[in-house]
Amino acid sequence: MASSKSSDTVNEGASAGPTSRWDELREELCTHPDGGFNIGAACSDRHLAAGQGERIAVRCLGPRMQQRDISYAELADRSSRLAAVLIGLGLQPGDTVAVLLRRVPELFVSALGVLKAGGVYCPLFATFGPGPIRSRLGLAQAKVLIVADDLYARKVAASRAALPDLHHVLLVGEDGVRTVPPEDCLDFTTLVEAASPAAAIATRPTDPALLHFTSGTTGTPKGVVQSHRAMLAHLITGRELFGLEPDDIFWCTADPGWITNTAYGVIAPLACGATVLADEADINPRRWYGILADEKVTAWYTTPTAIRAMMRYGAALARSYRSNSLRVAASVGEPLNTEAVLWGQKALGVPFLDTWWQTEIGSVAIANCPSETQRPGSMGRVLPGIHAAVVKREGSHLEVIETPDIVGELAIRPGWPSMLSGYVGNGVLLGAGLHDGWYLTGDLVRRDADGYYWFVGRADDMIKCGGLQIGPFEVEGLLMNHPALAEVGVVGKPDLLLREVPVAFASLNPGFQAGDALRAEVLAFARQELGSAMAPRELHFIPELPKTIAGKIMRRVLKAKAVEEPEDIDPLPLSSPCAEV
Ligand code: WTA
Repeated sequence: MASSKSSDTVNEGASAGPTSRWDELREELCTHPDGGFNIGAACSDRHLAAGQGERIAVRCLGPRMQQRDISYAELADRSSRLAAVLIGLGLQPGDTVAVLLRRVPELFVSALGVLKAGGVYCPLFATFGPGPIRSRLGLAQAKVLIVADDLYARKVAASRAALPDLHHVLLVGEDGVRTVPPEDCLDFTTLVEAASPAAAIATRPTDPALLHFTSGTTGTPKGVVQSHRAMLAHLITGRELFGLEPDDIFWCTADPGWITNTAYGVIAPLACGATVLADEADINPRRWYGILADEKVTAWYTTPTAIRAMMRYGAALARSYRSNSLRVAASVGEPLNTEAVLWGQKALGVPFLDTWWQTEIGSVAIANCPSETQRPGSMGRVLPGIHAAVVKREGSHLEVIETPDIVGELAIRPGWPSMLSGYVGNGVLLGAGLHDGWYLTGDLVRRDADGYYWFVGRADDMIKCGGLQIGPFEVEGLLMNHPALAEVGVVGKPDLLLREVPVAFASLNPGFQAGDALRAEVLAFARQELGSAMAPRELHFIPELPKTIAGKIMRRVLKAKAVEEPEDIDPLPLSSPCAEV
């Protein structure tokens, strides 16, 4: 990656001197005479002026490999029509539009259309059940929801009365067919076809654009907001890390609800004018090798979970499909161990890069870059423009650790264009939670003498399940709605494929009998309410949950129990009195 200039700044108006590369990028993206830019227009309309209209913007592969392509001209046109529809429905700049779609062309039209209308694009996980979807729609105060018709019927319809802010629901028939919407919904395709394209709203770089939920450890999920200028970081990492050019075919395997898909499955490749490939299937090694080769994918962004699944099938299968087009592959979301890096490089025949970032950071911040020496097992070095440090909390102050190889918390200075602008909580935009001018990531790392960062662990108790971060409190809260359960503790249990899966420990209310019938009933309830991705895979009944003096569940005791494959009603070895608070 090109080296950074120390004068680089992303603060509006702060770079009075010679033009920085951020200013150059801003000029390039500019779609408005007043110098502002709108992600929706910069990812579509801008390429038409450059004569790229006929190029395929997005190719979606359906469950049976049916292809649905959409050109840049079509994407620009349909997203501008959707913007007109949304404005016509009364959407005001800054209003949130939630999107609950699988990987279909309408997902891309929706993302860009919402942004062109000045709205905030808030994608949700289709694997979530009615409970998490309802709470996120409520926290986001979403005014409009664009949703697949089947997902609406199964996961949203029953919650409508509890969502007073949700004024309009647009239904999408995901195989491209029109739906006959119920009385309180509208048909997406009919409205889009009937509308005249609207010009994108002239948003300022600091206007809110993206909202993604990441599960907090304390109670409700956190909604993280990024503004339009986040696109500067998506464009630059797309170009300099993945080397994206208009000829590229870029495949990001992330779920549409995850910020990884918004940043690298939508914005970065479209900003670079490349073709995005989106496959409907979840991890499926044989199919995925076929896609890499047949679709001539040039750059691939996936997760350690996917690579671990592919490793199980062996290198011979990988070699039998080897794609000549692939140039680079990379991974994000969890630690990528050295064996996986080396295996990936051998099997795919290209550099396999670990990259680190978080929802709050908005785009890749630390990476093994193709242009630098890679250090397998490390997350890589900070990208130009990012100011990172390893810190130790000393009371209310932070001490920056300069000595190499000392473990501390990874901290980032705000200023990177995709850094969160705030959290949404109960409708209020909160401050970004800075400490001594640093944003604390909650990740424990060490930095070696050459500046490579090594992941050590999470400072908190999040359960990392594949690409999902599951907050134990959210799962516990919903399980407690079952009448049999008195108390619930949820922890991550190590899993070869997904890294961790949620497992639950529960004590029972009087009058309920522990046993297989009740376990099956509660687990089914959990899947119904939470969705299969978030629901606990196991449930163990215990007489009492281990607690600290302050009444906090001692998750590490439960974690130890989870690994031992506990049996029901097996009393836990509680150390008493307990010193922890
Ligand atoms: C973890 C995903 C180790 C980390 C874009 C971080 C990683 C959290 C890596 C963010 C990596 C992400 N090595 N751990 N390369 N990348 N993580 O918000 O704990 O879903 O804080 O953002 O994933 O997850 P999030």
